[in-house]
Amino acid sequence: MNIVLFGPPGVGKGTQSDMLVKELGITHFAMGDILRAAVSDGSDLGLKAKAYMDAGKLVPDDVVIGMIEERIRDSSVIAGFLLDGFPRNLSQAEALAVMLEKHGEKIDRVVFMDAPEDMLLERLSGRLICRACGFGFHRHYSPPREEGRCDRCGGELYQRDDDREEVIGQRLEVYGEQTKPLLDYYKALPSFRRLDASGEMKAVYAVLIEAVKS
Ligand code: AP5
Repeated sequence: MNIVLFGPPGVGKGTQSDMLVKELGITHFAMGDILRAAVSDGSDLGLKAKAYMDAGKLVPDDVVIGMIEERIRDSSVIAGFLLDGFPRNLSQAEALAVMLEKHGEKIDRVVFMDAPEDMLLERLSGRLICRACGFGFHRHYSPPREEGRCDRCGGELYQRDDDREEVIGQRLEVYGEQTKPLLDYYKALPSFRRLDASGEMKAVYAVLIEAVKS
């Protein structure tokens, strides 16, 4: 099964994707994680991407489309994939349709997750991530047992550069201008599902798995 999950920054795409890919046995392609890995590798693409990410803007289409196509091409032998954070504008959605056709793949579910803006701000500004294993926490909603340390591996927890308040505002603006219009592109498809992601994590997951399987 192939899934596209989209929605505003901080709505819980990463949190829900982790649970979903485990249950379905499919591969998680998280565009933000792929870009952050390129940044920490110090690759040319990573350096180019970093300036956009730190400013809360979208990385240019030619960079992200190539990165996703590489992974979709290699995924033809596996059970399926979940795209989290791609596509994020209309031209990426059109490029995705072309590359899926080229590689004999299709999208079985497009899920749109949404929550009120004050909730997004709270989720983003409280997020903490493990530097070693990448596991995510939240200062209030899923705090680590020991302050500043990952429960899973003991790694150091940090706040993402783009989770600073001034950058969050810019990311939400970019979302409204470029990503939200994807609703019009996808909502008429039979594979489209819309999800209220304002509840607590497990409750949202229960609705998500239902939406994916129905
Ligand atoms: P990316 O990393 O994809 O960021 P994002 O889309 O802004 O989404 P986030 O990762 O911030 O949030 P999320 O929805 O995954 O929420 P999470 O589950 O962590 O992209 C970063 C940047 O990369 C972009 O700004 C752009 O520059 C670039 N980029 C990425 N894709 C691109 C593309 N296609 N094209 C161009 N550029 C691209 O949850 C957030 C917090 O809330 C966590 O602390 C979590 O514990 C908590 N939480 C989650 N669910 C709940 C809940 N139900 N109740 C309470 N707390 C919750």
